[in-house]
Amino acid sequence: MLNNYDKIAGHYDTLSRLVFFKTQVTAQVDQLPYIQENSHILIVGGGTGWILEELSKTYTGLKIVYVEISAKMIALSQKRSYKNNHVEFVNIGIEDFKTDVLFDVILTPFLFDNFAEQRAAKVFGQLNEYLKKDGLWFQVDFSLNKTNGNWWKWLLIRSMYGFFKLLGIVEAHQLIDMNPYFFTANYLIVEERLYYGGFIKATIFRK
Ligand SMILES: C[S@@+](CC[C@H](N)C(=O)[O-])C[C@H]1O[C@@H](n2cnc3c(N)ncnc32)[C@H](O)[C@@H]1O
Repeated sequence: MLNNYDKIAGHYDTLSRLVFFKTQVTAQVDQLPYIQENSHILIVGGGTGWILEELSKTYTGLKIVYVEISAKMIALSQKRSYKNNHVEFVNIGIEDFKTDVLFDVILTPFLFDNFAEQRAAKVFGQLNEYLKKDGLWFQVDFSLNKTNGNWWKWLLIRSMYGFFKLLGIVEAHQLIDMNPYFFTANYLIVEERLYYGGFIKATIFRK
């Protein structure tokens, strides 16, 4: 299945820390204080589930739906200590996830960088439907500045896509700028932070 991280699930966190130290984690953890008590949260592509443990350090009573395409990532996530938050694990691609729930917060950390444009557009439209009016969308991903980009960022992103191509995991060959999707749908930026020399961008959008 496309964009499924089963092959590297057991090594993913180590690889991430090796290249990005803990910036991928910090960028996501810094957003968590924006979550209100008892919120209904959708996490898409949460990987090994470390974020569930981070959430349980501050919150109890969250209702979390955790959609992850990789069965191995789901298995690792289920072993996490998420304490008194309720977590529903759903092992399917987000494209196939249907719900009547309107979420208060949606998290898509390092999800859209896997997708070709068509899938990104489809998933954006779908998640937009699942978010409440005034709901928050935590978007964290790599970021390239097309006009004045640093050479090392381009090198790094090309190496990453090359690595994933070798493994046959990721369908994308290039990074899609998701900001136009949010702006076209009239989202507002609540907060934007940059990490790792600006290569990682964490944005909180309000619907
Ligand atoms: C780059 S990893 C990021 C993991 C985690 N968010 C983190 O920052 O540590 C992307 C994750 O998204 C999952 N994924 C990719 N496409 C997906 C889809 N269509 N639906 C749900 N999960 C998906 C992969 O299996 C993988 O675990």
